[in-house]
Amino acid sequence: MKNIETQRLILRKINRNDLDQIYENWASDKITNEYLTFKYHETKEQTKKMIDFWLNRYDKGGYEWCVELKETHQVIGIISGDTSYKYKCVEISYSIGSKYFNKGYTTEAIRGVIDYFFGECDFNVIEAVIPSKNIASVKLAENCNMKKEAVLKNRYKNKVTNEINDLYIYSIFKEDYI
Ligand SMILES: CC(C)(COP(=O)(O)OP(=O)(O)OC[C@H]1O[C@@H](n2cnc3c(N)ncnc32)[C@H](O)[C@@H]1OP(=O)(O)O)[C@@H](O)C(=O)NCCC(=O)NCCS
Repeated sequence: MKNIETQRLILRKINRNDLDQIYENWASDKITNEYLTFKYHETKEQTKKMIDFWLNRYDKGGYEWCVELKETHQVIGIISGDTSYKYKCVEISYSIGSKYFNKGYTTEAIRGVIDYFFGECDFNVIEAVIPSKNIASVKLAENCNMKKEAVLKNRYKNKVTNEINDLYIYSIFKEDYI
């Protein structure tokens, strides 16, 4: 896993010194947590355990970047890649602290990640699983030239509203990547 540099961001390996910023800017953020699989953290100890889990994944070849702003050196979010090497497929997930929403940061980061996965790694397809009501995530995927490949009807339950919604699979194939 390599560091990825974009105009405003550095995507790099997470380390234990990132604990305070990851907790404050991201893991404890109730707004950003709505669409994430874990419950927002109420103690730094929980975030420390999560960091240890990620560090462990590095040893097994996992992709786990923290997103650092070049200007302030604040760590504002996390991007992961879960691999199915059999199919040369990687599922990406992304999230940043709500203070930093809507500034184009994650679009910029994911474009960099797609360039890296297709340009420097041996993947044929990159996918993202997105709840249909997560408009920002849908727009982000479309901004990155990902296309809606499948709709899984009523296969997602929002943990805040308890509503049951569709789940989308967005993807981009190497042959369509310019
Ligand atoms: C989804 C998420 C990563 C987007 O990050 P971001 O850095 O704010 O996204 P960008 O600024 O690059 O914007 C992407 C697009 O979403 C739009 N957007 C951003 N926030 C939005 C919001 N709250 N409502 C509607 N659209 C929004 C932007 O306008 C942009 O679309 P455009 O280019 O057509 O204008 C961020 O909202 C987030 O972390 N959410 C919580 C975690 C999450 O939902 N992760 C994805 C799980 S599938």
